[in-house]
Amino acid sequence: MRSKECSNKEYLNLVDEIKKHDALYFEKHQPLISDYEYDLLVKQCEEIEKLHPEWVSASSPTQTVREKPTKGFYQVAHSVPMLSLANSYSEEEIRDFIKRVHKILPKDDMEYSAELKMDGIAVSLRYEKGKFVRALTRGNGKIGDDITKNIATISSLPKEINAKNLPDILELRAEVFMLKKVFSELNEQKEEAGQDVWANPRNAAAGSLKLLDTEEVKRRSLSIMVYGLAEGIKEIPTQEGVQKFLKEKKFPTFSKGHFAVCSSAEDLLKFANSIEEKREDLPFEIDGIVIKVNTIRDWEKLGATGKSPRWAIAYKYAPLQAKTKIHDITLQVGRTGVLTPVAELDPVFLAGSTISRATLHNEDEIQRKDIRKGDHVIIEKGGDVIPKVVSVDFTKREKSSKPFVMPDHCPVCSSTVVKKEGEVAVRCSNTMCAAKNERRLMFFASKPAMNIDNLGEKVMKKLIDHGLVKSMSDIYRLTEKDIASLEGFKEKSVQNLLSSIETSKKRSLARFILALGVPFVGTNTAELIAEYAKDVKNLQKLTEDELILIDGVGDKVAHSFVEYFSNENHLHEIEQMLELGVKPKSSKLVQVEGHSFSGKSFVLTGSLEEYSRSDAAALIKERGGKVSSSVTKKTDFVVAGAEPGSKYDKAVTLKVKILTEGEFIKML
Ligand code: IVH
Repeated sequence: MRSKECSNKEYLNLVDEIKKHDALYFEKHQPLISDYEYDLLVKQCEEIEKLHPEWVSASSPTQTVREKPTKGFYQVAHSVPMLSLANSYSEEEIRDFIKRVHKILPKDDMEYSAELKMDGIAVSLRYEKGKFVRALTRGNGKIGDDITKNIATISSLPKEINAKNLPDILELRAEVFMLKKVFSELNEQKEEAGQDVWANPRNAAAGSLKLLDTEEVKRRSLSIMVYGLAEGIKEIPTQEGVQKFLKEKKFPTFSKGHFAVCSSAEDLLKFANSIEEKREDLPFEIDGIVIKVNTIRDWEKLGATGKSPRWAIAYKYAPLQAKTKIHDITLQVGRTGVLTPVAELDPVFLAGSTISRATLHNEDEIQRKDIRKGDHVIIEKGGDVIPKVVSVDFTKREKSSKPFVMPDHCPVCSSTVVKKEGEVAVRCSNTMCAAKNERRLMFFASKPAMNIDNLGEKVMKKLIDHGLVKSMSDIYRLTEKDIASLEGFKEKSVQNLLSSIETSKKRSLARFILALGVPFVGTNTAELIAEYAKDVKNLQKLTEDELILIDGVGDKVAHSFVEYFSNENHLHEIEQMLELGVKPKSSKLVQVEGHSFSGKSFVLTGSLEEYSRSDAAALIKERGGKVSSSVTKKTDFVVAGAEPGSKYDKAVTLKVKILTEGEFIKML
């Protein structure tokens, strides 16, 4: 549709279509189109409205901020409205932005800050007298959802800052996101559990922030990047100064190369391009850079148009997409037997690597996008390392093409497949399926599980193909001679592998439980069960009733766990591993230099040099200690780093033992 020739009806249809996409994005967190496609629709809408201002509908995206209030959360008014940003996609548009600024403020020495545009969810954070008191979503820009409890689960966010020289009220702007690594891990668990996967890390973060179960939010391991100041500290003259302030106060903010001050469109573009080159290697998703007038006093003079400020603009990157053809659709059998359809692609170069396969997730996803063998498709590299198929070019589809049908037999062992009610996944029903066993063994040795260095998927495949490893315990039976018989292994690599296998014998009980591959038991549940069971010998004694009592363990996990441990083969295999020297460590049993962490409560204050707060907390918890956020008479130790906050003073008043970082490390 060309905007010039568009009829009013077509315009209203476009507004409606955008509204539908908004609902899919904000309420269901399952968008059908990419951000890029969405932006194009909005742009089209804007162009039509420029030509026909008399048509502008109240529900047009140009008139509304897209987010809707969520049931179950209190709605609270923002003390400073949360605006959105205008988008730009080209050098020309950046130049236009600079020209617009110059027209209002004709200065020759204008500076612009440039920083990452985090692809997450905007939140406002309020601190009163140095204490974190509230977090709100953007909502409609004026009123947002109160998500304080969920934001409080983010360990890198300081809940208390040194209030010296601070105004009573400080309001910050930040973006909540999910690290690519966390996203992949959680999505893998979802796929194994037969649940719908998230489309990208931003949807995962958005869905997580709107959960009412704070414990579940905690398990989603969300992250935050603070990038702005909306209220407080009038004394900071520039955005550069804001960055410095945030860093000083230990807020997670942009690292050195991710923020710059530029004085021309060329410089801004240079920064944007240098970041785009690194985009894939970043641990989180970005969708561009944000350019802001550096001097904050100028912001007021520049003001805002409708819903976005005139002093800032987003420069967005085109998505990492490529066109190719699906020459086949194959099926991969996972460790719990889930059959995952995979698109075998004509190799295509995309963002630094050659892609020849893309996951199609499940049958529902294939049907929704109507993906078929022989189709010409657009693939995209999202936050997940595995590329996905975005859409099909139906104009190029051959007449003879047929819809994909999921087989009713496992492609590896030919056993029947089953689809449980309410699940999208189809599974191979054979517990002894060779493909399942292969994936299980690969998972056992993988990083999140027993973390056996030098025993990646390729080496494991070789060991399986040579008949040297058939079961988990076989890994611990491998001899020097066995490994040396594999192609590519020399004396040094044989020793390296043997030593990694030896080291893995002392992994934690939680890792051991995870490595067993009990259906529905992921990293977090494994940790909860390990903490409860304390010893590997206790695992088989756990009953469903007992397991359900563990906070965070549901019926499904409890049932699956007990079922796993009532299988003689599984018990025999575990027994064999223990006999071969595997000795999973229980976290609560660690005792160091006469100090028991067990049951002791710790409070951390100030910044530690050796550890981040979350690492220090993890070390305490690993040893059976507890970490609290406030000091009470019951607190056993306060660990004080540099610039400790009011918790330090409280510890002095209550005569709680204060440890320096050095003393704490000694204790560890
Ligand atoms: S500044 C007046 N800086 O992008 C709005 N926003 O598309 C000021 N975002 O709502 C926003 N990274 O959610 C700003 N470094 C950054 C950002 C950023 C991501 C998001 C934010 C904003 C959206 C606008």
